[in-house]
Amino acid sequence: MIYEKTAKFRDDFLWGSASAAYQVEGAWDKDGKGESVWDVYTRIPGTTFKETDGKVAVDHYHRYKEDVALMAEMGLKAYRFSIAWTRIYPDGKTELNEAGLQFYEQLIDELIAHNITPVVTLYHWDLPQHLQDLYGGWESREIIEDFNRYCVTLFKRFGDKVKHWVSLNEQNIFMTLGYVTAMHPPAVKSHKRMLQANHIANVANATVIESFKQYVPDGMIGPSFAYGPVYPYSCDPQDILSAENAEDLNNYWWLDVYCKGEYPTFAFKYYERLGIAPVIEEGDLELLARAKPDFIGINYYQTGTVASNPIDGVGPSEVMNNTGKKGTAKENGLPGVFKNVKNPNLETTNWDWAIDPTGLRVGLRRLTSRYNLPILITENGLGEFDQLEENDVVNDSHRIDYLSAHVLACKEAVTDGVDLLGYCTWSFTDLLSWLNGYQKRYGFVYVDREENDEKELRRIKKNSFYWYQNVIESNGEDL
Ligand code: BG6
Repeated sequence: MIYEKTAKFRDDFLWGSASAAYQVEGAWDKDGKGESVWDVYTRIPGTTFKETDGKVAVDHYHRYKEDVALMAEMGLKAYRFSIAWTRIYPDGKTELNEAGLQFYEQLIDELIAHNITPVVTLYHWDLPQHLQDLYGGWESREIIEDFNRYCVTLFKRFGDKVKHWVSLNEQNIFMTLGYVTAMHPPAVKSHKRMLQANHIANVANATVIESFKQYVPDGMIGPSFAYGPVYPYSCDPQDILSAENAEDLNNYWWLDVYCKGEYPTFAFKYYERLGIAPVIEEGDLELLARAKPDFIGINYYQTGTVASNPIDGVGPSEVMNNTGKKGTAKENGLPGVFKNVKNPNLETTNWDWAIDPTGLRVGLRRLTSRYNLPILITENGLGEFDQLEENDVVNDSHRIDYLSAHVLACKEAVTDGVDLLGYCTWSFTDLLSWLNGYQKRYGFVYVDREENDEKELRRIKKNSFYWYQNVIESNGEDL
């Protein structure tokens, strides 16, 4: 559908930007904070780009007022950030750390004082290391109670001020990279263990949603899913079937559980045949069916294109482009099921991520038709090299082009009938990319630091800062 005139965004549209504790805060051992699995994992040589870590990150912990002042200057309506579990319960379960609660209370108050809506993520990957050591983290059902205790603490403390909450950030990514490709902690390579841990995470997610309804009945909660809608490479029926396979295994395996409380049939049968389907305990399915999210949070970066893959074909890749050298990503897939291929119609970033604004519209429509829930875009953005030029200029026109095309796609999706609550870019300031260091920049605000040199961590507004300011001011009319 090509529109001559598109609909307008709702008046209370949440023009936002997002971050995560480990990627911005630093202060990794301050004020009673416990160690997370990322504090420990990044000490293992070779795990991250040039051994980068979040010990200092962009020092948001100490500079949050300066950062919020910049958000206010921009006119940002919402700021999505995550709470570090290890600041609240240093060992994940026993003693509550008041200093941790106070830090987030101050941040929330600062945002509200500047008319910025806080959107709080409960879990953005920084699991307390103690729980990993104690019972294997997400592999034990003990985590359900511990995660719920931590979340309820936050609901009780902040529920009167914070009405927008995200439960798990990208469960599909932290499970797949943590337990299949072994690129994230706990760096396990076992599909079976992944599927079991993932089921436990589903139950934990649903438990927390149920608690939320009790403690913050006037709020909204949903997971943030890393959504890559899938295209078939061609109209060869084998490619079409491969795309169906990939949609079920990569997307609906999570989304159907969140929104319908059930695993997709084909995918479950497939895992059963392989003898790796998760063990589901009595009561789990009833809980999953009851605990519906209020919205679907989606992190959208790219679509995937798949073709058929022979039974002796390519398997999961352990090589990722994390250097920014275009063309270094390796082909990967599931033998006999599908393989990921390059889409010849799409440009890619220097990290080989396909640039596809139309894919965002396609995805928003698919989700609306399948689940009919409001959608909040909790992340979308372009990771690129940016240059700090003379007189503190950062001309990131590549980012402006990327974001403006994606906002336009949102507008078209709204015209199509999608109930879109808001759009958060990734990210507000530059920050640490988990596996790609500091050189892969996403922010509207440049932070002057390099991989292993923190310099002064000076904040410098990029050209995109002024562009987004204008987008917000015009409620998305002026792109
Ligand atoms: C999402 C995560 O996967 O994408 C963020 O929620 C992450 O934490 C972002 O930083 C961009 O990915 P990357 O690998 O480029 O940092």
